[in-house]
Parts: sequence; C-alpha cells; structure tokens
Amino acid sequence: MIYALLNQKGGVGKTTLSINIAAELTRLKRKVLLIDADPQGSALAWSNCRDEPSFTVVGMAKPTLHKEIDLLSGDYDDVIIDGPPRIAELAKSIILASDIVVIPLLPSPLDVWAAAETVDLIREAQVYRDDLKCCLVVNRKIANTAIGRDVRKALKELEVPVLKSDVGQRVAFPESMATGSTVLSGWNSKGAKEINKLVSELRRIK
Ligand SMILES: Nc1ncnc2c1ncn2[C@@H]1O[C@H](COP(=O)(O)OP(=O)(O)O)[C@@H](O)[C@H]1O
Ligand SMILES: [Mg+2]
Repeated sequence: MIYALLNQKGGVGKTTLSINIAAELTRLKRKVLLIDADPQGSALAWSNCRDEPSFTVVGMAKPTLHKEIDLLSGDYDDVIIDGPPRIAELAKSIILASDIVVIPLLPSPLDVWAAAETVDLIREAQVYRDDLKCCLVVNRKIANTAIGRDVRKALKELEVPVLKSDVGQRVAFPESMATGSTVLSGWNSKGAKEINKLVSELRRIK
C-alpha cells in the first residue's frame, strides 16, 4: 500500500507521522520504503542519525514521482511518502503516486481552513482516480481541551473521513526523533499506543 502524508501547511506532523508509521509497519514485519519528498529533507536528516536502520529511506522531491513509483515500490510491502508544504506541483505528483493520502492537521480553525486547499487537490485527482482514498488525522491534540473536542465538528465541513485515532501532543515525538529513533522505542508508552492504533486503522481502509 502507498500512503502519502500530505498537507500544504508546514509543521502539522507530516514528517513525524511518516517516520513513526513507517517504524510501526516495520514492527509488523512489513517491508517498508520511506520516500522523503520534501526538498527540506527532514526524514533523510533523521535517517542519518539512526544507529540501526530497520527500513529504507530515500530522497525524491521531484514532480515526476508518480511516473517512477512503480519502479521504486516493487520490492516493498508498503511505501510512505513524506510530502512537502506548499509546492503544489510536487503535491499533485505525490497524490497520483498514492493509494491513500493522509492529511495531518492540528486542532485549530486555521488548520481546518488550510487543509481545505490540500483536499481540493485530492478531489481534482479523484476525477481520474476514483480508487484514491483520503483521510484526516488530528495531531498534537491536547487532552481535555474544548478545541480538541470541537475540531471534529469543524472538520465535518471538509467532507473527508477523520480517523478515530488522534495523536496527542507529546514530548516523546520530538525527543525520539532527535536520536534517530521513534516513539515505539518507549514500548507501551502512550505515544507508541497511539501509533499502533493509527496504523491499525489505516490498514483497515479498503
Ligand atoms: N504529536 C506531537 N507531539 C509533539 N510534537 C510534535 C507532534 N507532532 C509533531 N511535533 C513537532 O512539531 C514540529 C513539526 O512537525 P513535523 O513533523 O516536522 O511537521 P511537517 O513535516 O508537517 O512540517 C516538529 O518540531 C515536531 O517535533
Ligand atoms: Mg516535514
């Protein structure tokens, strides 16, 4: 399956979730390729700090990605594409290369409005690709806040399924990243459980 983490907005957790999802799929014995399609190369930078690489990370931030995806993905069970902010041409290519586009966003009205731009790009692609799936995931949710609860209502206007598995605001995400690791290294931690749940929900999308 080819999953893209995409949002035209920066700082919503595309890279953080890409890496953690790739690590979880690897833990589940899938052979995983992570494509860093952001010219900033954050996922590549993370992969350079790893001690024991458990899945492959390559950089490919070019708008011909959809034409090369079959060649790239042949040897893998799953491919995760970490998308760039802004660059629409690249985003369109990533969408065409994917089976499921996952749009992470923060629980804020600004993020709901910004996500609409990415949703529009996906709708354009769905005209030609009616099998293309798309979902939203709330990231950096702060527990027991009104905005955390209300964001789900606001998200309805985007008319895109919202995953049940929210990801909380947890220091374990940046901390694990800094050492070339993931939240899964804190086995049984809250962050690890959220990623387990998120990936199992993603794998149930048909
Ligand atoms: N669930 C989370 N809890 C805490 N910090 C997070 C979480 N998700 C992302 N971050 C932090 O937010 C910042 C932006 O995340 P990043 O994955 O780089 O976003 P993007 O790739 O969309 O630009 C980073 O500093 C990252 O460590
Ligand atoms: Mg990023």
